[in-house]
Amino acid sequence: MSKNILVTGVSQGLGLAIARAVLNQGWTVSGVSRHLSDEYSMLQREHGDRARFHPFDLNRTDDVKAELFDKFLPFELPLHGYVNNAAVAYDDIVTNLDATRLRAMYEVNVFAPMMITRYAIRHMLFNRITGSIVHISSISVHTGYKGLAMYASTKGALEAFSKNTAREWGERSIRSNCVVAGFIETAMSGSLSAEQKQRIYQRTALKEATRIESVAATVVFLLGEGAASVTGQNIFVDSGTI
Ligand SMILES: NC(=O)c1ccc[n+]([C@@H]2O[C@H](COP(=O)([O-])OP(=O)(O)OC[C@H]3O[C@@H](n4cnc5c(N)ncnc54)[C@H](OP(=O)(O)O)[C@@H]3O)[C@@H](O)[C@H]2O)c1
Repeated sequence: MSKNILVTGVSQGLGLAIARAVLNQGWTVSGVSRHLSDEYSMLQREHGDRARFHPFDLNRTDDVKAELFDKFLPFELPLHGYVNNAAVAYDDIVTNLDATRLRAMYEVNVFAPMMITRYAIRHMLFNRITGSIVHISSISVHTGYKGLAMYASTKGALEAFSKNTAREWGERSIRSNCVVAGFIETAMSGSLSAEQKQRIYQRTALKEATRIESVAATVVFLLGEGAASVTGQNIFVDSGTI
């Protein structure tokens, strides 16, 4: 069955890999990020109408309904899944915490995804769709890393939101899960030195970075019929962080 999947943060990194993996299933991606990147444009050339795109800044939480749903995903276009991938990382030690930066991060990482979830569920109910919501969380919630307390707290909030959404909407066959990713080589982790990365990888069973394709494949699994009985879970894709 063909699906239409809303994926945020498709311009680069994991979101781009998820978009590619969803398209390779023969499904449609309704992609969102602030910029249309060359890489996503290439996917559009390759997959035509199935690689949709709408530029949107997730800081604009109040415009989620008008911009993302009324304009980009009207009820006539059934929605089967939502992948909450876009995020920003504000790293610093807690004693330097800056409230303005913290609020801005919560807007993108937590408040916008909650509002999108609200409208995505309403969309799925309207079209009587057994939908799947997947949030990208981070291993930092579970292990702790110096400098990531504020960022990890946004992902912890998503994990709680996902579990409770699963409980609330399971009766209507709407599932919600988190993929808890380990450290992946993307722009987000680009500020770490080679030495810091090695220290992180030494904390994993596989002694390596988490592979982006492995995270994307897990997301696709959670979106599909094979995961019909999986909800309210945190699936760890983290090279076995121990
Ligand atoms: N990299 C890691 O080690 C790691 C580990 C665990 C979990 N994660 C999680 O994995 C997900 C993807 O991260 P990544 O490493 O791929 O990061 P990334 O390379 O920095 O990409 C972030 C994506 O989010 C979009 N984005 C950022 N701010 C936005 C905004 N205000 N409005 C709309 N889109 C926005 C960016 O697009 P534009 O700039 O075009 O808007 C970009 O496509 C995130 O949820 C992250 O927390 C990453």
